[in-house]
Formats: sequence, structure tokens, C-alpha cells
Amino acid sequence: MSDHQENGQSDDDKVVHSWPEELKLTDLLYTETIQEIHRAIQSDWDSTRRSACQTAAARALWNHVVHDPLAELLAGETSLRTTYEKIKKDCLNNAREISGVILAVRTLWFDSKLEAALNSFAGGAAQIVLLGAGMDTRAYRLSYLKESKVFEVDFPEVMQTKATILQAAAGSTTKDQHPVMTAKSLSRVAADLRDNDWLQELQKVGFEPEQNTVWILEGILYYLSYSDATEVLKIIAESCKLAHTVLLADFMNKQSTALCSSIFRFYCDWPEQLLPTLGFSDVKLSQIGDPDAHFGLLHDPLNLFNRLRSLPRSLQTNPDDGTPCCRLYLVQASRSPTQDIQQ
Ligand SMILES: C[S@@+](CC[C@H](N)C(=O)[O-])C[C@H]1O[C@@H](n2cnc3c(N)ncnc32)[C@H](O)[C@@H]1O
Repeated sequence: MSDHQENGQSDDDKVVHSWPEELKLTDLLYTETIQEIHRAIQSDWDSTRRSACQTAAARALWNHVVHDPLAELLAGETSLRTTYEKIKKDCLNNAREISGVILAVRTLWFDSKLEAALNSFAGGAAQIVLLGAGMDTRAYRLSYLKESKVFEVDFPEVMQTKATILQAAAGSTTKDQHPVMTAKSLSRVAADLRDNDWLQELQKVGFEPEQNTVWILEGILYYLSYSDATEVLKIIAESCKLAHTVLLADFMNKQSTALCSSIFRFYCDWPEQLLPTLGFSDVKLSQIGDPDAHFGLLHDPLNLFNRLRSLPRSLQTNPDDGTPCCRLYLVQASRSPTQDIQQ
């Protein structure tokens, strides 16, 4: 067996990509309206809110694997150039991991688990709730959401700005960036997840606890404190006692949050132990590079993620080189009405 196959990857899976020498951006980014919006984002938003644009920038630049035509516009020139410069530097240094790969893999993992969860409901209406939705465009880019109602929750200024950018795109002559919804419906809720009224706000715009629901918590939990993050998870588990619920979330371990402790707060080294205490069952955990979380993008067996996967998860420091073991766990869990009957 080759090293690639041991990592769950074969040469057939491998995505080979040549990065462009120069970054070419859409003309739409240079219209006065869009420039003004992004200037305001850069000057007025804090780093937590700006992270929405950075994530979109990674998706825009990894567009050979994540098809997200609106991401460029939502990311803005500054975030795109910053991420592109990092990618160029990694390529020059022959880095084993290219900047943004972790976000590309994460997005693809959420997309694939979301589709599988909807299929597992075996028809019927389903709701998708994205907490900390930022510049996510799943409601416009995933064809398998046509029977699903989508709800996005984020801070008021993020939700408002996103709507304004998408409106500007709709009014432009650049046809391939016209937002065309692929979901059955989309509702945006302006709320702070640290205030416990966000569920009521969701219900006001049509969220129904008795409908099967997939909750997407992508890149959000670690911006919250431990008590706020666990409260959000408890609210989800409690709110869906009447229907099937699938939770998809990523968790940083302790060492990952230490990389930027002024921004990242909540961490969890053992999500499979925490989630059952909050009301979830059937927890499945993947690490970046696992067979269901590489998408042909992590073919070097010696890259950071593949080396980490070979170490026990209890290790905080890599015994080979003394570097911290920074992990991002991709976690799926569920809750079903029968679970409550049994309790
Ligand atoms: C890293 S971005 C991820 C965005 C999106 N999920 C994605 O993957 O593209 C984190 C998002 O969480 C939002 N966020 C952080 N704390 C929040 C809070 N307390 N309430 C609502 N949204 C929050 C930020 O505004 C930002 O849009």
C-alpha cells in the first residue's frame, strides 16, 4: 500500500492545481457601491465580524474545488489580496500545506455531510439553520436544497451588509454573479448568539421546531465563551425534541485556540464526550485529512494534518519537533424524538 492510500487517498483522488501568477478580480468589485461597503467593513468591523470576509476569500481563491461564484464579491479586495499573498508565499516556499486548504476542506466536508443528512431524512420538509452564517452562500450554490428552508443567523451589520452586496450583484450586468437562490426559501436573522433570544427570533421568521433540521455551526463556536458555546448547543438540542436534528460543527482543540487567544475562546479536546452531556447522540468525529475530510487536497503524507492524525489525540505537543498539536475537529451528531422517549 502506498503512503497516499494509507492516508485514505489514492493518486486518482489527487487535485492538482496551478495557482495564477497574478490575482485577477471581477470588475464588479471595483464599482463604487461595493468598494464603499468593503471600505466600511475594513474600518468599522472588529476581527470577529471581518472573519466572515476572510472565510469567503478562501472559498473564492479555492474555486477550483469550491464552486462559490458570489464569494469574491462578499470577501472584498483586501481579504482576497491578503489570502492570495499567503498562498503565493506558500507556493514559493514549497510549503506542504497551502493557505486556505483547511477552509476549503471544511466547507466541502459540511457540504457533503449536509447532503447526506438531508438524504437520511428520507424526504419531507427540512430546515437548515446556519449560526454565524457570515458570507456563506449555501442557499445560492447547493442544488440539493431546493426542498429546504434556509435560515441564517449573524450580527445585524453582517446580515445587512451581505444583503446589500447581494442586491448590488443582482442589479449588475455581470450575469455569472447574479445571485440565484437554489434553496426553497432564505430568511436572515440579525442576532447575537450570546443573547438567548435568537431561537425566538428564528421562530418569528418561520423556523418550526417540529420540522427535521440540520444545524450548521461552521467556524463559529470558538468565537464564543465556554458558557455561551455550550448554551447554544443546549438550546439546539432542547429546541428539536419533536423532530430529527443533525448538528454539524467544527471544534478547535485547546492548542488551536492558543494560536490567537485574543479572538478564540471556546475549545474542546473531546467533543464526543461533551456533546452527549448536552443532549446529542451518535457523535462522529473527523480530522482534516481523514478519508471523509481530504477531498484530494492533502496528498502529501508529511503535511501537518496527516502527521497530526498519526499522533494520539491526547498529545498536546508533537514529540518529533515540539510544536503544539493544533487540531480542528469536524463533528456530526444527532438527536431524534425516540431518544427522548427512551430517556
Ligand atoms: C469565521 S466566520 C464563519 C462564517 C461562515 N459560517 C462561513 O463558514 O463562511 C464567523 C462568523 O461568526 C459570526 N459570529 C461570531 N460571534 C457571533 C455571535 N456572538 N453572534 C452571531 N454571530 C457571531 C461572525 O460575525 C462571523 O460572520
